[in-house]
Amino acid sequence: MEVIIQQNSQQLSVIAAKIIRDAIRAKPDLVLGLATGSTPIGLYKLLVQMHQEKDLDFSRVVTFNLDEYIGIPQDHPQSYHTFMAKHFFDHVNIPKKNQFIPQNIVDNHVVFCQEYEDSIRSSGGIDIQVLGIGKDGHIGFNEPGSSFASRTRMATLSKSTLEANAVHFKDDINAVPEMAITMGIGTIMEAKQCLLLASGSAKKDAIAKTIEGPIGAMVPASALQMHPKTVFLIDEAAASGLSEIDYYKRAYNNKIKYIQPE
Ligand code: GLP
Repeated sequence: MEVIIQQNSQQLSVIAAKIIRDAIRAKPDLVLGLATGSTPIGLYKLLVQMHQEKDLDFSRVVTFNLDEYIGIPQDHPQSYHTFMAKHFFDHVNIPKKNQFIPQNIVDNHVVFCQEYEDSIRSSGGIDIQVLGIGKDGHIGFNEPGSSFASRTRMATLSKSTLEANAVHFKDDINAVPEMAITMGIGTIMEAKQCLLLASGSAKKDAIAKTIEGPIGAMVPASALQMHPKTVFLIDEAAASGLSEIDYYKRAYNNKIKYIQPE
């Protein structure tokens, strides 16, 4: 587990973008797990910029999104299909057939979820999974109480998530879809590397519990303590509930100095 604390979210996006850029250069057919929410927008912006200015080629990259709401059309302004097109897919050269996002309907969801898992597996598995985190510690839409062995499935959003996401639905909590299809925690844990980004003081409790708290289903992201290669990229505000800030900073400085110079 690596904890990288930076002053602001822009610096987090820069580090995350470099990790992904280097990985694509080393493996052009990289399998990327993607997240939505406001946190990764800066990262997508930088990747688009790298594509446009530095010829970062996404033509063989395969992507799997973590989740999608059930019950709003794909072209709804708040669907994750729309989000991904707007912030990323419309600006890079990832072939449509390589872009996987969960469906937005209930019909045949069991079959769909199984096929989603099969597609991840047959693509060789996710190399890098980008993650945000909810105030309640969720990753994807795996809310507190989700099994660490859970797989892609339909799930119900917690009250905390409905409240947090209401801002995207004109502050109308009743307009927020109550269900989603999400990769499971078991699915996420099979990614070879996870990059979890968090910024702002609203995330400080979730981050403290995730990184330093006991591992348990009530803090879904705490499962990542058992992941062999997770990088937590957090800004000062999101880090402010951690007790070992000084250690994480020294460890990162030493890494840059002695282990993996940038
Ligand atoms: C949503 C998404 C999560 C995301 C979280 C945090 O509920 N399903 O994948 O990480 O919100 O969003 P934000 O980055 O906007 O705080």
